Amino acid sequence: MNKTVIIVGCQWGDEGKGKIVDLLTPQVKAVVRFQGGHNAGHTLVLQGNIPSGILHKDVLCFIGNGVVISPEALLKEINELEANAVPVRERLRISATCPLILPSHIALDEAREHGTGAQQAIGTTKRGIGPTYEDKVARRGLRMHDFLNPKLFAEKLKTLLAYHNFLLEHYYQVQTVDYETTRDRLLALCDELIPLITDVPAQLTHYHQTKQPLLFEGAQGTFLDIDQGTYPFVTSSNTIAGAAATGSGLGVRHFDAVLGVSKAYSTRVGHGVFPTELTDNIGAELRDRGHEYGSVTKRPRRCGWLDGVLLKRAVLLNSISSLCITKLDVLDELKTIKICVGYTLAGQTLQEIPLNPDALKHCQPIYEEYPGWQCSTTPIKVFSKLPHAAQQYLKRIETLTQVPIELISTGPDREETIVHGFSVG
Ligand code: IMO
Ligand code: MG
Repeated sequence: MNKTVIIVGCQWGDEGKGKIVDLLTPQVKAVVRFQGGHNAGHTLVLQGNIPSGILHKDVLCFIGNGVVISPEALLKEINELEANAVPVRERLRISATCPLILPSHIALDEAREHGTGAQQAIGTTKRGIGPTYEDKVARRGLRMHDFLNPKLFAEKLKTLLAYHNFLLEHYYQVQTVDYETTRDRLLALCDELIPLITDVPAQLTHYHQTKQPLLFEGAQGTFLDIDQGTYPFVTSSNTIAGAAATGSGLGVRHFDAVLGVSKAYSTRVGHGVFPTELTDNIGAELRDRGHEYGSVTKRPRRCGWLDGVLLKRAVLLNSISSLCITKLDVLDELKTIKICVGYTLAGQTLQEIPLNPDALKHCQPIYEEYPGWQCSTTPIKVFSKLPHAAQQYLKRIETLTQVPIELISTGPDREETIVHGFSVG
């Protein structure tokens, strides 16, 4: 039985993790976010920091220390949910040590993406995520607990803004951010935020000791990981399963299973290497049928075939114990379907990613081709009722990765899911 489950994306985000978390939430006591910020968007219901479990009563939602928080965006999200009769404040708990995203972080993110500075555009969500993580690591950032001491908060903010404004004015040559306005705006939120602060590590450890099932919800995906992803076109946090421990404070021995979520094909938002990208009409068809537009920034997503080499790598990096394949229905109409099983690089055949990650951009995919099934999989509820060709495609993914596929999503609704052995609790 899986008690403490980590859900991670196996690709570049947007794998449909939100729907799966929503589906599994009724089986758990709490849902925990452990990294990322409000760049994580779930097309499902929410577009922000709050775990997608928030809609379920009797389930607590935790924001762990690995998550960066924009106080203003968080409260806006809370208020919107409350306007829709979701009692967020009863269900939400936030770590005291979450770094704070300031307006100047957003200004820096924008300046870097547009500006004349040396850095190449990454295609970020411009939410200030990267600059906030930078300040965390540089040990100069503000954190949630700073709201508990407004005087110290104001002093730290003044020092940090002086630094940010120096960069904005002299390096990027853009508008600076006013200290007094920022201080007053943020401190006005104190009274609303302080009651949400909790000792997250202690609470989660208590749940573990009392054998309550927990779900850890990753944001983005494996190849946006700051260390293991397609650097520098990545996000600024660790997105892989190991971050569930460091980003929440629950000890590493207390996790039982890792559920990797992958689409039946691939997508990527923003810049960076994408070996199986399709720039032809099949890519456009996947984008149309899969509604592949960013949930946060609305950008069209780049689309391509499933990359089995990267999926195997995701299994290794996350120690994935079960797979969930989403958006199988998007392939329903295709005559043939390809899956990348290796690369050629400088005349050599590779089964794994090259040792030098920079060489990935020169890798040519080696494809296996499978017949499509050309009928709708959406109404199907059990694996054995799937068309033979769809079963073959999924079994190929299993043999390639050596991991069982235990969930299959065939449409956006909760009911449009084939549960093939996976459960929590
Ligand atoms: P969900 O939760 C897809 C991408 C951006 C960019 C890179 C860095 O929906 O999976 P950042 O703003 O994080 O500094 O941007 O990461 N990115 C995402 N792509 N889904 C997301 O979230 C993403 N969050 C960030 O496009 O390439
Ligand atoms: Mg997204």
